[in-house]
Amino acid sequence: MKLLRRGAEAELYLSEEKGKKELLKRRVSKGYRCKELDEEIRSGRTGLEARLLNEAKKFGVRTPQVYGVDKEEKEISMEFVEGSRVKDVLNMGNFEGICERIGRDIAKMHSFDLIHGDLTTSNILLHNNKLFFIDFGLGTHSKKIEDKAVDLLVFRKTFEATHADLMPLGWEKIIEGYVAKMGSEGRKVVEHIAAIEKRARYH
Ligand SMILES: Nc1ncnc2c1ncn2[C@@H]1O[C@H](COP(=O)(O)OP(=O)(O)O)[C@@H](O)[C@H]1O
Ligand SMILES: [Mg+2]
Repeated sequence: MKLLRRGAEAELYLSEEKGKKELLKRRVSKGYRCKELDEEIRSGRTGLEARLLNEAKKFGVRTPQVYGVDKEEKEISMEFVEGSRVKDVLNMGNFEGICERIGRDIAKMHSFDLIHGDLTTSNILLHNNKLFFIDFGLGTHSKKIEDKAVDLLVFRKTFEATHADLMPLGWEKIIEGYVAKMGSEGRKVVEHIAAIEKRARYH
């Protein structure tokens, strides 16, 4: 097993068995939390992430196939998606189509009241020109326009910071895809983003 990446809360390992590549995501202990709470958070997020990876698939969003979950060890084993993070491939050349498709995929989740909770271009992979969403450990279910708007607003903040050179068109394409897929509820969510920002400015 090879350590692939050490993320904010997890270690990602790559292993290969009989030619099949497998990714192991292990949530590691955070020393600053009390032990019981730390265990509970890590196993809770592990279980949630595995469930939501499967759920998103039903809504037509590509995610890695989950092979196994071990809440005791705080581990998920899943399909290794070859290819790159959208963060690394979203360059000036061909970003518009990808951004639009990102918006459409978020709309698929939001239409079914699935809130991703940590949308960033590091949590979307591109393989064979297909998008895969990962990292659902902070996901939730909600029908609320507010929660959908916050999901998008948090994404926009990181998008602006990571892809300043693609602004504003990149973000406009994401919203274009989102509204095209989600229809009138999508427009309400987008209007609500503006309302949240206005509220924030006056506080
Ligand atoms: N199934 C996968 N296939 C390929 N790479 C992955 C997979 N899951 C995670 N990664 C890589 O590991 C990184 C961190 O994984 P992620 O689930 O986002 O953990 P974290 O919670 O630490 O952000 C991703 O940005 C991606 O580069
Ligand atoms: Mg991540």
